[in-house]
Amino acid sequence: MKNPLKKLRLLTPGPTPVSTDVLLSLAKEVIHHRGDEFKEILVECTELLKYIFKTENDVFILTSSGTGAMEAAVVNILNKGDRAIVLNTGAFGRRWKNILNSYGIEVKEIEYEWGDYVKLEDLENILKEDSNYQAIFCQHTETSTGVINDIKGIKEVAKKYGDIPVVVDAVSSLLGEELFMDEWELDVVVSGSQKGMMIPPGLSFIALNKKMLEKVEKSNLPKFYFSLIHAKNYFERGQTPWTPAVNTIFALKEALKIIKEYGIENLWNRYKKLAQATREGVKAIGLELFAKRPCNVVTSIKVPEGVDGTRIVKDMQNEFGVRIAGGQREYKGKIVRFAHMGYMDEMDVVMGIAGLELTLSKLGYKFEIGNGVRKVLEVFNG
Ligand SMILES: Cc1ncc(COP(=O)(O)O)c(C=O)c1O
Repeated sequence: MKNPLKKLRLLTPGPTPVSTDVLLSLAKEVIHHRGDEFKEILVECTELLKYIFKTENDVFILTSSGTGAMEAAVVNILNKGDRAIVLNTGAFGRRWKNILNSYGIEVKEIEYEWGDYVKLEDLENILKEDSNYQAIFCQHTETSTGVINDIKGIKEVAKKYGDIPVVVDAVSSLLGEELFMDEWELDVVVSGSQKGMMIPPGLSFIALNKKMLEKVEKSNLPKFYFSLIHAKNYFERGQTPWTPAVNTIFALKEALKIIKEYGIENLWNRYKKLAQATREGVKAIGLELFAKRPCNVVTSIKVPEGVDGTRIVKDMQNEFGVRIAGGQREYKGKIVRFAHMGYMDEMDVVMGIAGLELTLSKLGYKFEIGNGVRKVLEVFNG
C-alpha cells in the first residue's frame, strides 16, 4: 500500500524540485497561443532567457525535452555531407554522436573514459591534421559523470582552425555554472527546463549567434517540427509555430522572474557552495569522487567495494524518501549522483548526506556515522 505520509525529497539531476509559487503558476487557466496575452509572455520570457544565456542573440523556446534542442541544433546548422567532431565525455556526448549519425553526418569522435574531461590538446591535435569540420559538439557539464568541460577553451582552439562553430549542450549547466555565450563566442547553446531553470520538464531552449542563423537559412538536412526558420518567422509575430506547452511557459515566466531578482551571479555562487559541501561531506564518509574535474551542479560518487550501488538509490528512496540518481549504462551500480541545481539549498545537501550515511550504514559499510553531515555543516558554517 502506498504510504500517504511518505515525503519525497528529490535530489536527482533532472527533473529537479519546483517551488510552490512556480507550481501554482501552472494552475492558471489555459490561454490561446495566438493571442496578445500569450505574445506578451513569450516575448518577456525570451528577453529574460537572453539574460541567462548572457547573449544578445536570438533564443528560441521549443516544446520538447533537452534532446529536442540538441536535435534542432544538428538539423538546422549542418548540411548533407558535413563532418563534425564530438567531444564525448559520457552518456550525453554519446547522444550527440547518435543524433549526428541519424542524419548521416560523418563523426570524428574524441572519446574519454567516463569521469574524465576534454583535453584541449586532443582537439588541437586532431585539428592540426585535418580541420575540415563544420561543427564541434560538446557538453558543458556531462550529467552522467559530473564532469565540467572547458567550453571557453574549446572555442579558443576552434577559432585557431578557421573558427569552427562550437555547439554546447548546457542542459544541466545553465544557471549552475558560469556561462557567457557572447563573451566566449559560443555559436549554439542548448538547454532544458527541468534542471537549473526550476520548472517541470517539457521545454527546451536554443540560442544561436548571427553566423549560425545564416546557416539555418541554408541548411539542407531534413527537418520539420524543429525547423528554426519556422521558429524565427513565428517569433517575429510573438508566436511559436506549433502549439507550445502554454502552462509550462507560465511557469517559465514565474521562474525567470525569480531568477532575475535573485541574480544569476548569486546562483552560481550558491551552487558552488552546495557542491563544495557535498564533495567534502562525501569525502568525510570515506568515499571517492568519480569526476576528475567535478562540476557544481551534480556530484558523482564511486560506490564503495562490497556495496550494491543500485541498493543505495533504492533504499535511500524507500526508507528515507531521498531520491538520488544511480549511474547510467555501464556505470549502473558503480556510481551514485547527487544534484545541487535549481530549487535546492543547504538543507537539501544536509538531508542528502544524512540519507546517504543512514543508507550506507544499513548496507553494512563501515564508517563513523555523522562524519559526512558534520563536515557539510562545517562548510556551511565557515
Ligand atoms: C547534459 C545533458 N544533455 C542532454 C540531456 C537530455 O535532456 P532531456 O532528457 O531533457 O531530453 C540531459 C538530461 O538529462 C543532460 O543532462
